[in-house]
Amino acid sequence: MLDGALLSIDGLSVAYDGSIALNGVSLQIRKGELICVVGANGAGKTSLIRSISGIVRSSSGVVKMNGANITGLPSWEICERGIAQVAEGRQIFGSLSVEENLLLGGSLKRAKAHQLETLEFVYQLFDRLRERRRQLAGTLSGGEQQMLAIGRAIMSKPEIVMFDEPSIGLSPALTDVMFGVVESLHKQGITVLLVEQNVAKSLALSDRGYVLENGSIVLHGSSHELLNNSEIQRAYLGM
Ligand SMILES: Nc1ncnc2c1ncn2[C@@H]1O[C@H](COP(=O)(O)OP(=O)(O)O)[C@@H](O)[C@H]1O
Ligand SMILES: [Mg+2]
Repeated sequence: MLDGALLSIDGLSVAYDGSIALNGVSLQIRKGELICVVGANGAGKTSLIRSISGIVRSSSGVVKMNGANITGLPSWEICERGIAQVAEGRQIFGSLSVEENLLLGGSLKRAKAHQLETLEFVYQLFDRLRERRRQLAGTLSGGEQQMLAIGRAIMSKPEIVMFDEPSIGLSPALTDVMFGVVESLHKQGITVLLVEQNVAKSLALSDRGYVLENGSIVLHGSSHELLNNSEIQRAYLGM
Protein backbone atom coordinates (compact mmCIF):
# COMPACT_ATOMS: atom_id res chain seq x y z
CA MET A 1 0.00 0.00 0.00
CA LEU A 2 1.13 3.52 -0.80
CA ASP A 3 0.71 6.17 1.86
CA GLY A 4 -1.57 9.02 0.92
CA ALA A 5 -2.78 7.57 -2.36
CA LEU A 6 -5.09 9.82 -4.38
CA LEU A 7 -6.89 6.83 -5.86
CA SER A 8 -6.75 3.49 -4.15
CA ILE A 9 -8.31 0.28 -5.44
CA ASP A 10 -8.47 -2.83 -3.34
CA GLY A 11 -9.62 -6.25 -4.50
CA LEU A 12 -11.82 -4.96 -7.31
CA SER A 13 -13.73 -7.65 -9.23
CA VAL A 14 -16.17 -7.47 -12.12
CA ALA A 15 -18.26 -10.27 -13.59
CA TYR A 16 -20.60 -10.29 -16.58
CA ASP A 17 -23.32 -12.93 -16.37
CA GLY A 18 -21.18 -14.92 -13.98
CA SER A 19 -18.03 -14.80 -16.08
CA ILE A 20 -15.17 -13.03 -14.34
CA ALA A 21 -13.56 -10.14 -16.23
CA LEU A 22 -11.66 -8.53 -13.35
CA ASN A 23 -10.38 -10.62 -10.50
CA GLY A 24 -9.38 -8.86 -7.28
CA VAL A 25 -7.33 -6.02 -8.73
CA SER A 26 -5.51 -3.74 -6.31
CA LEU A 27 -3.59 -0.63 -7.28
CA GLN A 28 -2.77 2.81 -5.95
CA ILE A 29 -1.97 6.12 -7.56
CA ARG A 30 -0.34 9.02 -5.79
CA LYS A 31 -1.21 12.58 -6.62
CA GLY A 32 0.83 13.71 -9.60
CA GLU A 33 1.79 10.23 -10.81
CA LEU A 34 1.35 8.86 -14.31
CA ILE A 35 0.77 5.14 -14.06
CA CYS A 36 -0.17 2.65 -16.74
CA VAL A 37 -2.07 -0.62 -16.75
CA VAL A 38 -1.03 -2.64 -19.78
CA GLY A 39 -2.57 -5.80 -21.12
CA ALA A 40 -3.74 -7.59 -24.22
CA ASN A 41 -7.18 -7.38 -25.75
CA GLY A 42 -9.70 -8.88 -23.31
CA ALA A 43 -7.41 -8.61 -20.27
CA GLY A 44 -9.97 -6.49 -18.40
CA LYS A 45 -8.63 -2.95 -18.94
CA THR A 46 -11.95 -1.36 -19.90
CA SER A 47 -13.73 -3.23 -17.11
CA LEU A 48 -11.23 -1.78 -14.65
CA ILE A 49 -11.82 1.80 -15.83
CA ARG A 50 -15.57 1.39 -16.03
CA SER A 51 -15.82 -0.07 -12.57
CA ILE A 52 -13.76 2.80 -11.11
CA SER A 53 -15.98 5.34 -12.88
CA GLY A 54 -19.19 3.64 -11.75
CA ILE A 55 -20.43 2.70 -15.21
CA VAL A 56 -20.04 -0.99 -14.45
CA ARG A 57 -20.90 -2.31 -11.00
CA SER A 58 -18.16 -4.26 -9.26
CA SER A 59 -19.00 -7.56 -7.58
CA SER A 60 -16.49 -6.95 -4.81
CA GLY A 61 -13.72 -4.59 -3.82
CA VAL A 62 -13.28 -1.01 -2.66
CA VAL A 63 -12.43 2.18 -4.55
CA LYS A 64 -11.27 5.17 -2.52
CA MET A 65 -10.61 8.70 -3.73
CA ASN A 66 -8.72 11.00 -1.35
CA GLY A 67 -9.39 8.43 1.37
CA ALA A 68 -13.19 8.46 0.89
CA ASN A 69 -14.98 5.29 -0.13
CA ILE A 70 -16.64 5.92 -3.51
CA THR A 71 -17.50 2.31 -4.34
CA GLY A 72 -20.96 2.01 -5.86
CA LEU A 73 -21.62 5.74 -6.17
CA PRO A 74 -23.40 6.82 -9.36
CA SER A 75 -21.04 7.81 -12.15
CA TRP A 76 -21.96 11.54 -12.09
CA GLU A 77 -21.05 11.63 -8.39
CA ILE A 78 -17.70 9.99 -9.16
CA CYS A 79 -17.07 12.70 -11.80
CA GLU A 80 -17.85 15.33 -9.16
CA ARG A 81 -15.15 13.76 -6.96
CA GLY A 82 -12.64 14.63 -9.67
CA ILE A 83 -12.29 11.40 -11.65
CA ALA A 84 -12.68 11.81 -15.41
CA GLN A 85 -12.37 9.20 -18.10
CA VAL A 86 -11.57 9.29 -21.77
CA ALA A 87 -13.56 6.31 -22.92
CA GLU A 88 -12.45 3.72 -25.40
CA GLY A 89 -14.24 4.47 -28.67
CA ARG A 90 -14.52 8.11 -27.55
CA GLN A 91 -18.29 8.23 -26.85
CA ILE A 92 -18.87 11.79 -27.90
CA PHE A 93 -22.28 13.21 -28.85
CA GLY A 94 -22.20 13.13 -32.65
CA SER A 95 -25.22 15.33 -33.22
CA LEU A 96 -23.92 18.12 -30.99
CA SER A 97 -21.24 20.60 -32.03
CA VAL A 98 -17.67 20.33 -30.83
CA GLU A 99 -18.19 23.23 -28.43
CA GLU A 100 -21.47 21.84 -27.09
CA ASN A 101 -19.69 18.57 -26.30
CA LEU A 102 -16.98 20.48 -24.45
CA LEU A 103 -19.46 22.63 -22.49
CA LEU A 104 -21.31 19.49 -21.41
CA GLY A 105 -18.06 18.19 -19.94
CA GLY A 106 -17.74 21.48 -18.07
CA SER A 107 -21.25 21.50 -16.66
CA LEU A 108 -20.37 19.68 -13.45
CA LYS A 109 -20.67 21.61 -10.19
CA ARG A 110 -16.92 21.30 -9.61
CA ALA A 111 -16.12 22.83 -13.01
CA LYS A 112 -18.90 25.26 -13.87
CA ALA A 113 -17.38 28.43 -12.43
CA HIS A 114 -14.29 27.97 -14.61
CA GLN A 115 -16.04 26.78 -17.76
CA LEU A 116 -14.91 29.50 -20.19
CA GLU A 117 -11.37 29.62 -18.89
CA THR A 118 -11.06 25.83 -19.19
CA LEU A 119 -12.57 25.96 -22.68
CA GLU A 120 -9.81 28.38 -23.69
CA PHE A 121 -7.24 26.01 -22.18
CA VAL A 122 -8.64 23.12 -24.26
CA TYR A 123 -8.58 25.24 -27.42
CA GLN A 124 -4.97 26.15 -26.74
CA LEU A 125 -4.15 22.48 -26.38
CA PHE A 126 -6.06 21.50 -29.52
CA ASP A 127 -6.11 24.23 -32.12
CA ARG A 128 -8.05 21.88 -34.39
CA LEU A 129 -10.99 21.84 -31.95
CA ARG A 130 -11.10 25.64 -31.93
CA GLU A 131 -11.19 25.69 -35.74
CA ARG A 132 -14.02 23.18 -35.74
CA ARG A 133 -15.93 24.36 -32.70
CA ARG A 134 -19.21 24.86 -34.61
CA GLN A 135 -18.93 21.58 -36.53
CA LEU A 136 -21.02 18.55 -35.56
CA ALA A 137 -18.85 16.19 -33.57
CA GLY A 138 -20.03 13.20 -35.58
CA THR A 139 -18.33 14.61 -38.68
CA LEU A 140 -14.86 14.78 -37.09
CA SER A 141 -12.09 12.37 -38.04
CA GLY A 142 -11.11 9.62 -35.58
CA GLY A 143 -8.13 11.60 -34.32
CA GLU A 144 -10.22 14.75 -33.86
CA GLN A 145 -12.87 12.78 -31.97
CA GLN A 146 -10.15 11.50 -29.67
CA MET A 147 -9.01 15.11 -29.08
CA LEU A 148 -12.61 16.04 -28.30
CA ALA A 149 -12.97 13.18 -25.82
CA ILE A 150 -9.81 14.34 -24.07
CA GLY A 151 -10.97 17.96 -24.16
CA ARG A 152 -14.29 17.00 -22.63
CA ALA A 153 -12.57 15.17 -19.79
CA ILE A 154 -10.36 18.22 -19.11
CA MET A 155 -13.46 20.43 -19.02
CA SER A 156 -14.58 18.66 -15.83
CA LYS A 157 -11.50 20.03 -13.97
CA PRO A 158 -10.44 16.51 -12.92
CA GLU A 159 -7.81 15.57 -10.36
CA ILE A 160 -7.26 12.34 -12.20
CA VAL A 161 -7.90 11.37 -15.81
CA MET A 162 -8.24 7.74 -16.85
CA PHE A 163 -7.42 7.12 -20.49
CA ASP A 164 -8.78 3.94 -22.05
CA GLU A 165 -6.50 3.10 -25.00
CA PRO A 166 -6.15 6.63 -26.39
CA SER A 167 -4.12 5.32 -29.32
CA ILE A 168 -6.57 2.68 -30.50
CA GLY A 169 -7.39 2.97 -34.19
CA LEU A 170 -5.04 5.91 -34.78
CA SER A 171 -2.16 6.16 -37.24
CA PRO A 172 1.37 5.93 -35.78
CA ALA A 173 1.79 9.70 -36.20
CA LEU A 174 -1.47 10.50 -34.40
CA THR A 175 -0.64 7.92 -31.74
CA ASP A 176 2.49 9.92 -30.95
CA VAL A 177 0.41 13.12 -30.80
CA MET A 178 -1.98 11.48 -28.31
CA PHE A 179 0.81 10.17 -26.09
CA GLY A 180 2.32 13.67 -26.24
CA VAL A 181 -0.97 15.14 -25.02
CA VAL A 182 -1.14 12.64 -22.15
CA GLU A 183 2.39 13.59 -21.18
CA SER A 184 1.74 17.32 -21.32
CA LEU A 185 -1.40 17.01 -19.17
CA HIS A 186 0.65 15.08 -16.65
CA LYS A 187 3.32 17.79 -16.67
CA GLN A 188 0.61 20.30 -15.85
CA GLY A 189 -0.13 18.45 -12.64
CA ILE A 190 -2.95 16.12 -13.62
CA THR A 191 -2.70 12.61 -12.22
CA VAL A 192 -3.03 10.04 -15.00
CA LEU A 193 -4.14 6.43 -15.16
CA LEU A 194 -3.34 5.21 -18.66
CA VAL A 195 -4.71 1.88 -19.82
CA GLU A 196 -3.12 0.59 -23.01
CA GLN A 197 -2.19 -2.29 -25.27
CA ASN A 198 0.77 -0.29 -26.55
CA VAL A 199 3.12 -1.57 -23.86
CA ALA A 200 6.36 -0.01 -25.07
CA LYS A 201 5.00 3.53 -25.43
CA SER A 202 3.00 3.42 -22.20
CA LEU A 203 5.91 2.23 -20.11
CA ALA A 204 8.20 4.80 -21.72
CA LEU A 205 5.82 7.55 -20.60
CA SER A 206 4.82 6.40 -17.12
CA ASP A 207 6.35 6.33 -13.64
CA ARG A 208 5.02 2.90 -12.70
CA GLY A 209 3.14 0.15 -14.44
CA TYR A 210 0.86 -2.79 -13.75
CA VAL A 211 0.48 -5.77 -16.08
CA LEU A 212 -3.05 -7.14 -16.36
CA GLU A 213 -3.62 -10.69 -17.67
CA ASN A 214 -7.00 -12.43 -17.65
CA GLY A 215 -8.39 -10.00 -15.09
CA SER A 216 -5.49 -10.21 -12.63
CA ILE A 217 -2.42 -8.04 -12.00
CA VAL A 218 0.51 -10.38 -12.61
CA LEU A 219 3.37 -7.89 -12.28
CA HIS A 220 3.89 -4.33 -11.15
CA GLY A 221 6.84 -2.08 -10.62
CA SER A 222 8.62 0.97 -11.89
CA SER A 223 8.20 1.36 -15.62
CA HIS A 224 11.96 1.20 -16.00
CA GLU A 225 12.04 -2.21 -14.25
CA LEU A 226 9.17 -3.51 -16.34
CA LEU A 227 10.80 -2.38 -19.58
CA ASN A 228 13.89 -4.37 -18.58
CA ASN A 229 11.97 -7.44 -17.41
CA SER A 230 12.73 -10.35 -19.75
CA GLU A 231 9.21 -11.84 -19.49
CA ILE A 232 7.67 -8.51 -20.48
CA GLN A 233 10.17 -8.12 -23.28
CA ARG A 234 9.30 -11.54 -24.64
CA ALA A 235 5.52 -11.44 -24.14
CA TYR A 236 4.79 -7.80 -24.99
CA LEU A 237 7.75 -6.15 -26.65
CA GLY A 238 8.62 -8.76 -29.26
CA MET A 239 12.24 -8.99 -28.10
N1 LIG B 1 -20.54 -5.98 -21.46
C1 LIG B 1 -19.93 -7.18 -21.43
N2 LIG B 1 -20.65 -8.33 -21.36
C2 LIG B 1 -20.06 -9.54 -21.31
N3 LIG B 1 -18.72 -9.70 -21.32
C3 LIG B 1 -17.95 -8.62 -21.40
C4 LIG B 1 -18.51 -7.30 -21.46
N4 LIG B 1 -17.48 -6.40 -21.52
C5 LIG B 1 -16.34 -7.13 -21.50
N5 LIG B 1 -16.63 -8.45 -21.42
C6 LIG B 1 -15.61 -9.52 -21.34
O1 LIG B 1 -14.79 -9.26 -20.22
C7 LIG B 1 -13.42 -9.52 -20.51
C8 LIG B 1 -12.60 -8.25 -20.33
O2 LIG B 1 -13.02 -7.29 -21.29
P1 LIG B 1 -12.50 -5.80 -21.29
O3 LIG B 1 -12.59 -5.24 -19.92
O4 LIG B 1 -13.23 -5.09 -22.36
O5 LIG B 1 -10.96 -5.99 -21.69
P2 LIG B 1 -9.94 -5.04 -22.45
O6 LIG B 1 -10.44 -3.64 -22.32
O7 LIG B 1 -8.63 -5.28 -21.77
O8 LIG B 1 -9.91 -5.49 -23.88
C9 LIG B 1 -13.39 -10.06 -21.94
O9 LIG B 1 -13.40 -11.46 -21.86
C10 LIG B 1 -14.68 -9.53 -22.53
O10 LIG B 1 -15.15 -10.39 -23.55
MG1 LIG C 1 -10.81 -2.18 -23.67
